Amino acid sequence: MPGPDIQLQIDGGSYAARQGEPLIDALNRAQVELPQVCYHPQLGPIQTCDTCVVEVDGQLVRACGTPARAGMRVRTAVQAAQQAREEAFDRLLANHLLYCTVCDNNNGNCTVHNTTKLMGVQHQNRPFQPKPSAVDDSNPFYRYDPDQCILCGRCVEACQNLQVNETLSIDWEAESPRVLWDGGREINGSSCVSCGHCVSVCPCNALMEKSMLGEAGYFTGIELPMFNSAVALVKNVEPSLGYVPILNISEIEAAGREGYIRRTKTVCTYCGVGCSFEVWTKDRHILKVEPTHGPANGVSTCIKGKFGWDYVNSPERLTTPLIREEWGFREASWDEALNLIARRFREIRAESGPDALAFIASSKTTNEEAFLMQKLARAVVGTNNMDNCSRYCQSPATLGLWRTVGYGGDSGSISDIEQAGLVIGIGTNTAESHPVLATRVKRSHKLRGQRLIMVDLREHELARRADLFVQPRPGTDFVWLNAVSRYILEQGLEKKDFLARWVNDLDGFRASLEGYTLAHAEAVTGIAQDTLRQIAREIVQADGTCILWAMGVTQQMGGSETSSAISNLLLLTGNYMRPGAGAYPLRGHNNVQGASDMGAMPNYVTGYQKVDDPGVRARYAAEWGVDLPASRGLDNHEMVHAIHAGELRAMYLKGEEMSLVDSNSNYVDAALEKLDFFVVQDVFFSHTASFADVVLPASPSLEKDGTFTNTERRIQRLYRALEPRGGSRPDWEIIQLVANRLGAGWTYTHPSQIMAEIARLTPLYAGVTYERLEGFRSLQWPVHPDGTDTPLLFKDGFPFPDGKARLYPAQFVPPVEPPTEEYDLHFNNGRMLEHFHEGNMTFKTGGIAQKVPGTFVEVSPELAGERGLQTGSVVRLVSRHGAVRVPVLVTERVSGHQLYMPMNTQDAAQAVNRLTGSHADLSTHTPAYKDTAVRLEVLSVDGPPPLPRTNHRYGHPTPQNGVEVGRKWRRPDYVFPGASLTMLEGSSLNARADRSGGADD
Ligand code: SF4
Ligand code: SF4
Ligand code: SF4
Ligand code: FES
Repeated sequence: MPGPDIQLQIDGGSYAARQGEPLIDALNRAQVELPQVCYHPQLGPIQTCDTCVVEVDGQLVRACGTPARAGMRVRTAVQAAQQAREEAFDRLLANHLLYCTVCDNNNGNCTVHNTTKLMGVQHQNRPFQPKPSAVDDSNPFYRYDPDQCILCGRCVEACQNLQVNETLSIDWEAESPRVLWDGGREINGSSCVSCGHCVSVCPCNALMEKSMLGEAGYFTGIELPMFNSAVALVKNVEPSLGYVPILNISEIEAAGREGYIRRTKTVCTYCGVGCSFEVWTKDRHILKVEPTHGPANGVSTCIKGKFGWDYVNSPERLTTPLIREEWGFREASWDEALNLIARRFREIRAESGPDALAFIASSKTTNEEAFLMQKLARAVVGTNNMDNCSRYCQSPATLGLWRTVGYGGDSGSISDIEQAGLVIGIGTNTAESHPVLATRVKRSHKLRGQRLIMVDLREHELARRADLFVQPRPGTDFVWLNAVSRYILEQGLEKKDFLARWVNDLDGFRASLEGYTLAHAEAVTGIAQDTLRQIAREIVQADGTCILWAMGVTQQMGGSETSSAISNLLLLTGNYMRPGAGAYPLRGHNNVQGASDMGAMPNYVTGYQKVDDPGVRARYAAEWGVDLPASRGLDNHEMVHAIHAGELRAMYLKGEEMSLVDSNSNYVDAALEKLDFFVVQDVFFSHTASFADVVLPASPSLEKDGTFTNTERRIQRLYRALEPRGGSRPDWEIIQLVANRLGAGWTYTHPSQIMAEIARLTPLYAGVTYERLEGFRSLQWPVHPDGTDTPLLFKDGFPFPDGKARLYPAQFVPPVEPPTEEYDLHFNNGRMLEHFHEGNMTFKTGGIAQKVPGTFVEVSPELAGERGLQTGSVVRLVSRHGAVRVPVLVTERVSGHQLYMPMNTQDAAQAVNRLTGSHADLSTHTPAYKDTAVRLEVLSVDGPPPLPRTNHRYGHPTPQNGVEVGRKWRRPDYVFPGASLTMLEGSSLNARADRSGGADD
C-alpha cells in the first residue's frame, strides 16, 4: 500500500490521505468517531447502511463510498450529516431487536450494539418489524436469523467477492428482503462450503456459530418462553427508560463474560496456508474461532479452521500412555512407559548401533517439537535416520528450487499471488487443498481481471473458473513445460536482460530442450500446439506470473525434474526478484515447511545446513556438547525398506499416520509389524499406533505454545488455549522426557527457549524471537539477526556464491505404471475440502462427517456408461499392490478412463494407499502416488450415494458482483437519508438530492 500522497481537510484540520482510498479510511485514521455499520476494511465499501454520511464540499455523501481527493473539505459534525446518520441507523434498527443482555453476541465487539452506543440512541422511531421468514438452522455449524438481520450485506460481499463461493445474495426487490442461499434454498444443501466468512463478518447476531448459542452469556442459555419474556421486558421499559441505561446493564453483563471467556491467538492446525485467529473458549468448550487480521488470511478461514475443532475434546483422545501386551494394549504410567522406551532404545543401540533406530517428526506439530525430535536422534541417540512427511509431498519441489534458485521456499507471499498478472496452477486442487489461498486467486480473477491457467487432470473448481484449462496426459507436465520454454527461446521472447544479469547456464539449458518441440509435446501430453503457444504468450505478456504447484507434480517419478522445469520457465521469463511473480510450491500440512526447516531430515540439520559439512557439525557440537553423526541417514521411504531388510529395528514416530499415508500401505504395514520396538506418539490411537509397542498421548495445537511456519515461510506463534487433556502432554515435553531418560539432561521449561537455540544455530531463523512474534506478528525467513525478515525472496540476487540463479538441464522421467490391458484405468488421488488428509482429526467433527461421511471413487460419465455404473454402485479397485472396495460417485470432474479417490477414510482397509506402489521420485524418494493404474470390478450397481445431498457440491451458486446495492437504491421506498433531509428541510447544502447518495452502483 503506497503512503499518503494528498492532503484533505477534516472538520477544519489538515490530514494526509491516499488519492482514491475510501474517505472513511482517512477519517478513521484521523480518529473521527463516525458510525460505519456495513464498512469493513477487508471487504471495501458496500454502501448499504448509510450510517457513515458526511458532508464533502457541501454535499452529503457516504464516507465509505467516496474516494479521497486532494483538497476535499469534509465536515462530519454538521447537523444535516448527523441527522442523516441517525435516520439511517434508525432504519437499520427496525430490522433488529436490541436484546443485548440475553444475546450471545454481546461480547464488546458487536457493531450494532457499539453503534447504538456511539450514536447515543435513546429511542427507535421505527418499531422493530419481524420478518416473514423463519430461522434457518439447517447448517451444522451456523444459523441465520432473518429477524436480526439488518441487511448490511457484509455476508454477501464476503461470500461473493472475498471467499468467492457466490452462494449468498439479497433479494432487494422483495417486500421484505433477506439473505438468500443459492437464491432461496435451505443453507444445508446449498452451495455453501461452510467457510464461515459470512459469520465472521456479520456485524450482529443474525449469523452466528452454533457453538456460541446459549453458551456465551450469563442468561443466553435460557429456554425460549423465558427468553421471549426477557426480550419483551426490555422492549416494555425502553419507551420510558431509553436505550442508554439498558445498554449500560448489558455492558455490565458483557464485562462479566470476560471472567470466563478466554480469547487465545492460535494458528490453524490443518493446511499450509497458515490462517491465524483467536479461539474463544469457556472452560474446555470452544465457543468460536474468530479471524480478524491474520497476516496470511485476514478474516478468512475454511470449514476446517473455522469449525473443525471438535477433535480436541473428542472422547477418543489418548489420555494415558499405552503398552502392548500379548493380548492388546494396557494403560501405563508415564514412568513405566518412559522407562521401557529408554531401556529398549539403549538395548537396541548397544546391540546394533545407533543406525538401527529411526525417528520421524510430524508436520502437524510445532517447529520447536520438530527441532527436539532431530536433536534427540542426532545428539542423544547418534543417528541421522530422521525424516518428516515432506518426503511424501514437498521434497521434489524443494529440490527443484534449490537446484535453480537456491532456496526451497515460496518466492513471495500470498499477497504476491494475489497481485500477479497471471497465475498458473499445475497439479494443484487449490480451492480444496489450500482454500484460503485459493480465495485470493478467485478474488483477483473475478474483480481485477487476473488471468488464470489451470493444468490438471481433474476439472476442479479453479479449473472451471480458469481462462484456460489444460488437461495433459498423466505424468507429462515436464514435457509441456519444456516445450513452452523452448518455444519462448525460439521466438526470442525470453527476458534477455534478466538472464544476462542474474542467470547462469543458459546454453546448457537451451541444449537440454532440443527435443522438446511443440509437435513432440503435443504427441506426448495431448495438449494442442496452439494451446502451448497461448501459454507461452500469456506468460511473456503478463505483468508477473506466479506458478503454483502441488502433489499432482511432486508425487510422480520425475517430481523433482518437473519442479526444476517450472523454476527454469520462471527464470527464463524473468519471473523472480519482483513482486507478484515467482514459484509457489503449496505446502500441504500446517508445518510441513517448518518441520523441514528444523532439520527433521536425514541429510540436513536446521535451515538446510548439511550434516556432512564439518563446519556445521562443529557449530552444533559447540552448542550441544556432543559430536553429530556425519553421514546422511535414511529417509522414511528408505526406512521402510531397511525394516524389511532387517537393518532398522526401532522407530519413534510422532503425529504421523504413516501406515495409511505412506504409499503401498500393505508393504508399510508389513514393515511396521517387523519392528522390534515401535513408539508412536499421537493425539489419537491411529491405525499406525496399532503396530506400536508403546503409545504416548500427545496434546494438539490448542493445548500448547509454539510456532508454525506456513507455505509463505511465515513463522507464527500459537498460544495455549486449553490445558492438556487428561494425562496427555505437548510433544516437546514428551521428547524431553524421553531424551532425559536416555541421559540428555535437557532443561527446557518453555518452547521460547527452544526457539532461542534454533535461532543460535540457524542462519535462516537467526532473528526469530518469541517477542518479535508476539500476538499476530509474524516473520518470513530468512530472518536476519536484527529481526528484519524477507517477505520477497531474491531481492538482491540468489543465494549462490555469485548471486546468480542456475538454469538446470532436467531430464524427463516417464510414468512407470501407465495403464495396461490388465490395469486399464489411471488412478488419481488427493484431498477434499472438508477433510484433512486421512481425516483422523476432521472425522471427529460431527458436522464435517455429516457433509462427507467417507470416501468414494469418482468415475466419469463415459466410464460409468461403459461399465454400467451409477452413483452409489460399489466397485473393487485392484492395482498391482492391493485392492479396495469403494462406492462410486459419477461426476464430470474426472474424464475418460481416469479415476479419482479422496484420501479421507475411517476404514484402513479402504485407504487410497492400499493401491499405490513403492516406486518414487528418483532424486528425493517421494512416492509416485499419482502414478498408479488399476482395474475396476463391479460388485453391485445400486446403492446409496456416498456424498449426501447436503454436500455443497450439489448446490447451485448465484454469482454476482458483491451485494448489488444499486438494486436497493432503486427500490421505490428507498431514499438516501441525506437527500430526504435536503428535500424536507430545504437545507442550505448544495445537495444533489439524488436518491442514491451520489455513489456508484
Ligand atoms: S460459502 Fe457459506 S459459509 Fe462461506 S461465506 Fe458463503 S454462505 Fe457463508
Ligand atoms: S446476516 Fe448478512 S446482511 Fe444480515 S446482518 Fe449479518 S452480515 Fe448483515
Ligand atoms: S485449513 Fe488451511 S485454509 Fe483452512 S483455515 Fe486452516 S490454514 Fe486456513
Ligand atoms: S458504512 Fe455503510 S454506507 Fe458507509
